[in-house]
Amino acid sequence: MLNWMEGLYETDPEVFDAILKDIERQFNCLNLIASENYASPAVLAALANPMQNKYAEGYPGRRYYGGCEFVDAVERLAIERAKAAFQAEHANVQPHAGVQANLAVYSACLQPGDTILSPALAHGGHMSHGAPFTIAGKLFKVIQYGVNPQTETLDFDQIASLAREHRPKLIICGYSSYPRTVPFDQFRQIADEVGALLMADIAHIAGLVVAHAHPSPIPYAHFVTTTTHKTLRGPRGALILCSSEWAQAIDRAVFPGSQGGPFMHSIAAKAVCLKEAMTEVFQRDQFQTVANARALADELARQGFRLVSGGTDNHLLLVDLRSFDPKLTGKEAERLLEQAGIIVNKNAIPFDERPPAQASGLRIGTPSVTTRGMREDEMRMIGRLIGAVLKDPDPSNLQRIRGQVVEMVQQFPVYADLLEAMRTVQAGYQV
Ligand SMILES: Cc1ncc(COP(=O)(O)O)c(C=O)c1O
Repeated sequence: MLNWMEGLYETDPEVFDAILKDIERQFNCLNLIASENYASPAVLAALANPMQNKYAEGYPGRRYYGGCEFVDAVERLAIERAKAAFQAEHANVQPHAGVQANLAVYSACLQPGDTILSPALAHGGHMSHGAPFTIAGKLFKVIQYGVNPQTETLDFDQIASLAREHRPKLIICGYSSYPRTVPFDQFRQIADEVGALLMADIAHIAGLVVAHAHPSPIPYAHFVTTTTHKTLRGPRGALILCSSEWAQAIDRAVFPGSQGGPFMHSIAAKAVCLKEAMTEVFQRDQFQTVANARALADELARQGFRLVSGGTDNHLLLVDLRSFDPKLTGKEAERLLEQAGIIVNKNAIPFDERPPAQASGLRIGTPSVTTRGMREDEMRMIGRLIGAVLKDPDPSNLQRIRGQVVEMVQQFPVYADLLEAMRTVQAGYQV
């Protein structure tokens, strides 16, 4: 690692400096972004590897380039591990990101003009599920479902009636900000009734699914897509799982349908993260992630915050700020918390009257703090700190809480060896 870091410093001290500062930032803040995590040093090492130089269009054993013996080995490992981790018949590990994985599924099973039934953005869906300003939104007729206004959980009466009325070719379940268990079996029943295919986008909950801390969509969904960098704790990227029946169509839809050369360094890192995901330590951490989210939800409720749907079953919670302070927007709460070293994101809540750039909610997730080793006691402390920031946003109070955050995170170091190595390199050049 040191030699490579030296090489980077020598060539580009400005980029080196920015990376070092961001690692320090990651170390020194409480990261509660639900879609982020800390990839392991093994994943990072695999990412920084010269396989990134290799062109390998095609699939293992069927490439358009010579010299693919070892990248074939790595991609086969990633495929076999993805199949084993999720108990799937087929895996494609080439999608560069979650959006690309979703587009590949659409291109495998839909024609322009076909109908998709998918979750509305404001009710927890993701823009790649067919928001009007995306390519999917332009190519397909998109009907959107949401949550029930009373329970704020998935409204299966509405989903079934929209499915009967519009006869979609594809139904999508999978969310960016839905704090409850997704009953994939109920979606499949509706899909079967109207002759639709079912896609589950488990980008957020993939780690929980591998660990059985959330039910698996595999027996129910025709296609499962996921990113590899959220609860799965791997490199930025994605993968697609399906039954053997759809294997060829999915592979063709990824390459040559929508991507060129695969990122072989990233596939190597996906293989590493999938190996890690099958360990007991990882699986225990996923249950802890859920237990931590519950503990944090309980403390936030005690602090006077209303939680959308009343709580959480997974790794995230959605705070409705309106009852806490009708004038406080998600945007302002995010800004104040950041000043105290607590990183969250503003988020629309169902039936939000504010525009998404202001929003009335905060999305708060526990994957990163759990990876650092924090447990329920720390979650209660974090809940109290969030309450203290938003009840008294005076700069001196924020400064005091920032101090408490730094004290807390120092007991749960992350990337400490890497930081030390980079500081050593920097100091060596600065004398
Ligand atoms: C449910 C869901 N699907 C897809 C994506 C897109 O992933 P990416 O940013 O890797 O394209 C996200 C990203 O947050 C997501 O939450």
